[in-house]
Amino acid sequence: MLDFLGKLERTHLCGDLRAADAGKQVVLMGWVNRRRDHGNLIFLDLRDRSGIAQIVLDRDLTPEGHAKGEAIRPEYVVAAVGKVRLRDSLAINPKMPTGEIEIEATQILILNDAKLAPFSPAEEAIANEEVRLKYRYLDLRRAEMQRNFWIRHRVTLAVRQSLSDQGFLEIETPILNKSTPEGARDFLVPSRIHAGEFYALPQSPQIFKQILMISGFDKYFQIARCFRDEDLRADRQLEFTQIDLEMSFPQQEMVFAVVEKFLVAGFAAAGVALAAPFPQITYDEAIRQFGVDKPDLRLPGLTDVREAFSDEDLTTLNLDASLPVIALRIPNVGVLSRKEREDNHPLFDQRKGAKFIDDLKRLEKGFPAAVEKLRQLTNAGENDFVIVVAGDPAHPIQASNTKIPGRLSEREIAIYSAAGNFRVELARKYADRHGAFGITTTVVETADPNATLLDGSKAFQPIWVTDFPMFEHDGESGQWVPAHHPFTAPYEGDLDKLFTDPAAVRARCYDLAMNGLELGSGSIRIHRKDMQQQIFKSLGISDEDARSRFGFFLDALEYGTPPHGGIALGLDRIAMLLAGAPSLREVIAFPKTAKAVDVMVDAPTPVSEQQLRELYLRVALKS
Ligand code: AMO
Repeated sequence: MLDFLGKLERTHLCGDLRAADAGKQVVLMGWVNRRRDHGNLIFLDLRDRSGIAQIVLDRDLTPEGHAKGEAIRPEYVVAAVGKVRLRDSLAINPKMPTGEIEIEATQILILNDAKLAPFSPAEEAIANEEVRLKYRYLDLRRAEMQRNFWIRHRVTLAVRQSLSDQGFLEIETPILNKSTPEGARDFLVPSRIHAGEFYALPQSPQIFKQILMISGFDKYFQIARCFRDEDLRADRQLEFTQIDLEMSFPQQEMVFAVVEKFLVAGFAAAGVALAAPFPQITYDEAIRQFGVDKPDLRLPGLTDVREAFSDEDLTTLNLDASLPVIALRIPNVGVLSRKEREDNHPLFDQRKGAKFIDDLKRLEKGFPAAVEKLRQLTNAGENDFVIVVAGDPAHPIQASNTKIPGRLSEREIAIYSAAGNFRVELARKYADRHGAFGITTTVVETADPNATLLDGSKAFQPIWVTDFPMFEHDGESGQWVPAHHPFTAPYEGDLDKLFTDPAAVRARCYDLAMNGLELGSGSIRIHRKDMQQQIFKSLGISDEDARSRFGFFLDALEYGTPPHGGIALGLDRIAMLLAGAPSLREVIAFPKTAKAVDVMVDAPTPVSEQQLRELYLRVALKS
C-alpha cells in the first residue's frame, strides 16, 4: 500500500502558505494531524514543523487520491501534490495562520503508515506525563513542544553570538573529570584501565574555566553540560546546560554588563524586550524585602508591620516581640472561607520557628487598631489576602541569634524565610486559580523573527542579588558551612573575621534571579594560593584533603594567576521561563522523570556481569 517518493521533492512547508500563494503548484510532506471524511470530499490536516495546511481530496478531481484518503489515518506520513486555492469565505479559519487557503490535491502518496498512537500529537494538553515521556517522539511532534525547542535554539544561538561579539572564546572542557565541588553528589564513571579508580562527571566546568584564565585566554565561555546527582524538582534535572563564562581582571559590574547584554539578545531572539541594566539588591535586603534570596518582583514584597502592634498585643497573641513581625500580601485572591484558609496551612514551614495569623477578621475583633494600621502599611485592597508572620516563642529554632551590626541574625533570617517561602507557595497556588497577577509568564510567539518585540518588563523581572554571606549556619550540626563553592573570594575587609566571626564574612558572589527562580550564580574568585589555602581551612577542608582533591589547582595558582571571576546561568531555566513552561522537562528533549528515570530508553538499568568484571566492579547492595 505504501507509495514511493521517486524524485518528488518538497516545495513548501505547510505552515508557510498564505493567501498570496493561491494558484501555486506545491508539494507538501508531513504527518496527518486530523482527517475528516465528508463523503465526496476528504480533508486532511497536514502537519510539519512549521504548522498545518488543509489538503482537500476531491473524488471528482482525484478518484485515486480520494480512495487512498479513505485508508489514511492520523500520523500517517504523506506527500500531497496539488494547487493552493483560496477557501470559500465561510470555510476561512481565522485561528489558523494558513486558514485562508487549502490545497486542492491532484495526487497523494502514502509514505508510511502509523500505528494508533497512545495519544494524539494533535492534542494540546496530555495529562499523563509518564506516557508523554515514554513516547517522547510523539510528544515532541506537538506544536507546543516544537515551539519550545525553537525558542531554546534561537536563544542559544543569540547568546553564543553575543558572547563571541563581546570577545569571549568558546572552549570545551572535559566530561570525564575529577570531582568538582558544587555541593551536589558526583556521578562517577569507573575506569577500566585503572582498576578501582573513577572519573567524575563535571558538576560544572568551574576549575577548568579558572585554569583557562591562568592560561591567558582572558574571556572564556561554554554552553556546558553539567551533571549533578541530586533530587529532581521542576527546576532541576540530573543533567542540565549552563551558559558558563569566566573573565580576567573583572569588576563585578563588568560581569553583570556581559550577562545583561547576552540576555537582552537572547530574550530578543525569543520575541521579548528585556530592559537593562537589571536592578540590584543585597542579600540582606532581599531577605528583608522578600524572605528569599531569589526574589519574585512580580508580587508585592514583605512589609515590616511591627509598628502596627503594641508589645501588649504581641504578648496576647503570643508572638515573639524580639523578632520581626512581617506581613505578606497576595493580591486579588478574593474572600477566602475558613476551610480554604486552613487548606493553606501545610504550605507553611513550621520548622522555621515562626507562626502566622491569616484571619484578619478575627484579629479585627480584638485588635481593630492594629488591623487598620496593617492594611495601611501593606496597601491592602478588598480582595487581597494578608497574612502576618512572626517569631513563635513556643518553638524557638536552633539558630544563632548573634547580631552582626547592620546585618540580619540567623533567627531573623529564619522568620523572614518562613514568610518568604509562604508567600511563594501561596502565590503559586493562587496564580493557578486566579491567574491574576502575572505569575504565569506571557506565552511568546516566535514564528516571526522580525515582529516587534513584546514588552517583557512585567512578565520577566530580573534582579541581581549581591553580598551574600560567605557561610551559612547549619541548624542541625551547629556548624558554619560554606554557602558557595570554595573558590569564591571573601571581601578583603572581612578577612580578619574568617576564623573569629565567620557569620560576618561576606562573599564577593552574586546571583541573578528572575521571577523567583535562580537563573545564575557567580563570583569573583580567589586568585592567590595562600588565600585559597586559608579558605579551604576555614571550610574545614584539611591540607591533605585539599592537596589530594585540588593539588593541581593550588599548583597552578602559583604560576601567575590573574584576578578573575565569572558566572554560570541555567540555559534550561531561561528556556523554561521564555516558553512559559511549568518544568524543565518541557524544554529538554529527553529529560528524566522526577524519579530520575528516562522512561523512553529505560535508564538506568543493570549491566551484564561481563561489563562489571571489566570494570572490576561487583554489585554488593541492592535496596
Ligand atoms: P551553580 O551551582 O549556582 O553555580 O549553578 C549555576 C546555575 O546553573 C543552573 N543549575 C541547574 N539547572 C538545572 N538543573 C540543575 N540541577 C541545576 N543546578 C544548577 C541554575 C544555577 O543558577 N560553577 C558555578 C558558577 C560560577 O561560580 O561561575 C555554578 O555551577 O540556573
